[in-house]
Order: sequence, then C-alpha cells, then structure tokens
Amino acid sequence: MSKKIKIEAEFEELAWEELNIKEQQLMMRARKVSESAYAPYSNFHVGAAVRLESGEILQSSNQENISFPVGVCAERLVLGYAGANFPDLGVTEIAIVARRKGEEIWAGVSPCGLCRQTINEVEIRFNQPISILIQNPDGTVLRFHGIQTLLPFKFDNLNA
Ligand code: THU
Repeated sequence: MSKKIKIEAEFEELAWEELNIKEQQLMMRARKVSESAYAPYSNFHVGAAVRLESGEILQSSNQENISFPVGVCAERLVLGYAGANFPDLGVTEIAIVARRKGEEIWAGVSPCGLCRQTINEVEIRFNQPISILIQNPDGTVLRFHGIQTLLPFKFDNLNA
C-alpha cells in the first residue's frame, strides 16, 4: 500500500521592528550591497549579507554575464567568499533583498535551487542551521530557521 507523507513548512513573517538589531543591521548591509549589482541583462538587483560566527558581516550582489548561465547569484558569491576567506567560521545568518533597476520598492525574491543547495552545504559544513531573512515587497521580512523549510527532502547524505 502506498503511504502519503506530508512535509510541513514553518517560517515567520515579521515587521521590521520585530527583527532584532543585528538582523536589522544585516538587512541594511544586504540592501546597500544590492546597489553594486551587475545585472544589465535582468535588471534584477540582488543583495545578500551573511554574519559569521565572529560577528563579522560579509556581503555581495549578483554578477551577471553575457553568457547568462555564467552569472552568479548574490547568495552564492557571498557564501563562496566566506568559505574561501574564513574557512574556520560558520555562518549564522543570511539576509537577502532584491530590487528592480530604477524602482523604489523591494522586489519579491527567494533563493534559487542552486543557492538553496549551497546554503545547505554550509549548514552541513559547520553543523548548524543558518537563519535566512528575506525582504518582502510590503516591508515585512520572512525568517526561516535553517534551509530545511526551503529545501525539503534535500540531498544531504551520500551514504543513506
Ligand atoms: N538572483 C540572485 O542573485 N539571487 C536570488 O535569490 C534570485 C536571483 C539573480 C540571478 C540573476 O542575476 C538575477 O537575479 C535574475 O534572476
């Protein structure tokens, strides 16, 4: 007999004032770095900021290429930089924001599949969940406790 298996997804939607100061700082860094996006093909400017265990914040924007698949998302760039330059420090939080060129309001955004798998890898590497903050167009912020909700039934065990 077949079995139906349900996966539940739990995350929070918070007003700006409900974020703690450190989260607000991280969001502000992501907002600021989105201004450096090189996105002449999509005009979609993304900023991602991560906080390391040391408290230090790193950030990156998306960097596109005329050969489209060569372009890299903001999240993967900043996580790659963190891994290369701070190999001993885990990542505790990542903030993600996006804005269309020339617009004032924030655009809806959600990390792509490759970036979700990358966030998963950093969680595996340091054996701790990463808090994921995503800017909503209405000003609220989504908070996910770890990648599991965004990437259920993920590939995370070579020996299962
Ligand atoms: N992009 C990111 O950098 N992060 C996301 O979470 C969503 C998409 C980039 C990739 C591409 O440069 C542009 O946004 C449009 O997809």
